[in-house]
Amino acid sequence: MRIPFIAGNWKMNTTVGEAIRLVQAMREELDKVSHVDKVLCPPFVSLAPLKELLKGSSIKLGAQNLYFAEKGAYTGEISPLMLADLCEFVIIGHSERRQYFHETGEVVNKKVLAALKAGLKPILCIGEKLEENEASRTEEVITEQLNSSLAEVKDLAGLVIAYEPVWAIGTGRAATGEQANETIAFIRQNIAKRYGEKRAQEVRILYGGSVTAANAAEFMHQPEIDGALVGGASLKATEFLSIVTQTAVIKYRK
Ligand code: 13P
Repeated sequence: MRIPFIAGNWKMNTTVGEAIRLVQAMREELDKVSHVDKVLCPPFVSLAPLKELLKGSSIKLGAQNLYFAEKGAYTGEISPLMLADLCEFVIIGHSERRQYFHETGEVVNKKVLAALKAGLKPILCIGEKLEENEASRTEEVITEQLNSSLAEVKDLAGLVIAYEPVWAIGTGRAATGEQANETIAFIRQNIAKRYGEKRAQEVRILYGGSVTAANAAEFMHQPEIDGALVGGASLKATEFLSIVTQTAVIKYRK
């Protein structure tokens, strides 16, 4: 059985002080929820202080990005080796990075390979844009994104996939549970073709895009959806805690 996975992508929000206060506000309650992987992805500058704060806790950390080179003259970049010391996960290929920072499939692929080499577990984000969805091109776009992102990836080794339709991110217009479940089932079939049925049944695939405490249950009731990548709602302690708690209850009632 796949362990449910809820990650908070804080994006470019919180100073170090705010990040510490946010974790302090939910740490105790979040720690009590078992059988769910709880992952916080704060900005780079908060990873080290939060690692310290979360010593002995069941809450895990992830970064939001990385550069693919191990070290060198890349002013302003953060390498896989630097992150491997600080966190277990790293978000790669988020649509905001593809859109605003022009990350191509090839760059995403280099980052996935570099993360895996350093022992980090990628949270690989894929998803179609509104116009692609409206043109019924979702499966085609997703197949292309998986082809490019996973090129030369021999073993998924803990990699998590997040299906985030771009039109649902930050818009308040989430996909329906059924829509997300259908696309995630399609992603799992694609993974089965590449890595075999066993791996496909093991890989965790999340939904992301306007997930809140109010709609989380709709997604968690779906059999193919293993959790969520939460943006805005992960910045509010009670909302995030509620999403994690609901996930634990729903996924373990079955
Ligand atoms: P929102 O939950 O704010 O829509 O963001 C989703 C997201 O992009 C998570 O990575």
